[in-house]
Amino acid sequence: MDEPLAVARLRAAGCVFAEDEARLLIATARTPDELSAMVERRAAGLPLEQVLGWAEFCDLRIAVDPGVFVPRRRTEFLVQQAVLLARGYDPPRAPLEGMTPPRAIIVDLCCGAGAIGAALAAAVDQAEVHAVDIDPAAVRCARRNVPGHVYQGDLYQPLPARLKGQVGILAANVPYVPTGEIGFLPPEARAHEPFVALDGGPDGLDVLRRVAAGAPDWLAPGGHLVIETSERQAPLAAAVFAASGLTPRAASSTELNATVVIGTLTPS
Ligand SMILES: C[S@@+](CC[C@H](N)C(=O)[O-])C[C@H]1O[C@@H](n2cnc3c(N)ncnc32)[C@H](O)[C@@H]1O
Repeated sequence: MDEPLAVARLRAAGCVFAEDEARLLIATARTPDELSAMVERRAAGLPLEQVLGWAEFCDLRIAVDPGVFVPRRRTEFLVQQAVLLARGYDPPRAPLEGMTPPRAIIVDLCCGAGAIGAALAAAVDQAEVHAVDIDPAAVRCARRNVPGHVYQGDLYQPLPARLKGQVGILAANVPYVPTGEIGFLPPEARAHEPFVALDGGPDGLDVLRRVAAGAPDWLAPGGHLVIETSERQAPLAAAVFAASGLTPRAASSTELNATVVIGTLTPS
């Protein structure tokens, strides 16, 4: 299959960026047969990243297998915020005079393929990164992507107890789509990403509530919980953080169409 044929097949299947996608598939396929198979899988509706086997995220190539949540560009904003915090920069109080930054122990909860953990490991000096996901397929990817410890299990349950009270950055892109809105997601997500990666319960905040409730046990004094939400969910998420004993604030990026809520465990 040559490039014009690949473009035509992808365009006929409704791929809006058929030329770009064809170029990526051609650059990734090792044989003509492999290229044909990849084009067919993409034409059948698999997310491009799952066909390629990788997603670009914070200038890294993150391995992504079929059936694993594809890291989104907007989540780079969460990483940017977490990197600032890990370096001791906290805008409402910046610079943190007289305070040392929290220790560079970083946890990526609900890590999926591990994009956040991998990006933070690359950006934060001497970070010790731990990542957790409940889905075995995600954990298999994360083990290829995260230079650190990757565990399978429910939220905090598999983390080593020695991390209690020690975590500087607790980053989490948890599932946050309200159950009733999953049907409105693009077919690529509905059909090829697991329900457990998308479903956040009736208001989308079920998993976030559990993460916030557990965070004070794991954060170091001055440590931060950083969670992606929708813009609409941010005020309620901030109230949940406050009820868990964290000092909340929200940050957004219009460029990346992203919102994160940051909760800080105020040193007593
Ligand atoms: C929206 S995806 C985000 C994945 C990754 N953080 C990213 O940004 O690419 C949410 C992830 O949370 C995981 N997950 C859902 N419930 C979980 C739980 N109770 N404990 C651990 N992981 C969970 C899912 O398997 C999925 O990989």
